[in-house]
Amino acid sequence: MTSSIPLDDIDAVQAALAGEGYVCGRDLATVTFLALRLGRPLFLEGEAGTGKTEIAKVLAAVLGRRLIRLQCYEGLDAATAVYEWNFAAQMVAIRAAEARGEAPPDLFGDDFLIARPLLEAMRPQPGGAPVLLIDEIDRADAPFEAFLLEALSDFQVTIPERGPVRAPAPPVVVLTSNRTREVHDALKRRCLYHWVDYPGHDREMAILAARAPDAAEALSREVVAFVQKLRTEDLFKTPGVAETIDWAKCLLALDVIDLSPEVVADTLGALLKYQDDIQKLQGSEARRILDEVRAELA
Ligand SMILES: Nc1ncnc2c1ncn2[C@@H]1O[C@H](COP(=O)(O)OP(=O)(O)OP(=O)(O)O)[C@@H](O)[C@H]1O
Ligand SMILES: [Mg+2]
Repeated sequence: MTSSIPLDDIDAVQAALAGEGYVCGRDLATVTFLALRLGRPLFLEGEAGTGKTEIAKVLAAVLGRRLIRLQCYEGLDAATAVYEWNFAAQMVAIRAAEARGEAPPDLFGDDFLIARPLLEAMRPQPGGAPVLLIDEIDRADAPFEAFLLEALSDFQVTIPERGPVRAPAPPVVVLTSNRTREVHDALKRRCLYHWVDYPGHDREMAILAARAPDAAEALSREVVAFVQKLRTEDLFKTPGVAETIDWAKCLLALDVIDLSPEVVADTLGALLKYQDDIQKLQGSEARRILDEVRAELA
């Protein structure tokens, strides 16, 4: 399958992602290019709200492929991630056949198979092999990780009643983790790894320009400088890029032209999600950070 945009080199990948509003550095563009070129899964680890999930969505758009998402959680097991049999439909079909005096139908046919994300990703898709996003793998348990390791090494899953299903072409796989626990080395070894860090000032400005284009440059400057300072403070939960964008949109909705301690205090809920952090930032702390920001931007 050829992509809709030729991604022949790192610059082309970086430009194609930017074209979909995803602004990344050369390091992430390089590892993405290599993952596509070598057909290896991309393993992205990093803080919350730094664009790990988003890159999979944007990649699917760039490649013109379907995005299939497997959201991981504690207790997720292989059966749920691959397929389930529709027991209710099987029962109805059996009863109906009995009533008509017919032989029971093929209970393991397509009519009764509910494909879950991993099986779906191994099936032929219009537009070519899909982008498979395995999101927040650190939330799943170790046995599921082991299962995944196998599924990803030969891009094949097995339905005991029907046999193996093999992907006609390997999907583009993106795994993300918030590192609430370490993911096993064996899985990481299969992948190309990248730590997604908070963007620096200039890149965060570019992201804001792409994602909150209505914000005036002067306000965006203050917003980005404020958030960048906030990330150096001792907080329980540091704001990610998602929060910067949210905050800018809130300020826009309030017709704010420039920041003031009062405006910051009133809108902190867009940036900080823990009451302890919010309390810390209300009053003199917000003023202090704002003064520092003003001094820097002057
Ligand atoms: N580099 C970027 N370019 C453009 N937008 C970005 C970028 N990084 C983050 N965003 C924006 O931030 C939002 C949140 O990003 P995303 O959901 O991908 O974060 P995440 O790293 O998956 O966070 P979590 O760990 O909480 O799941 C996205 O919807 C996107 O709008
Ligand atoms: Mg995410």
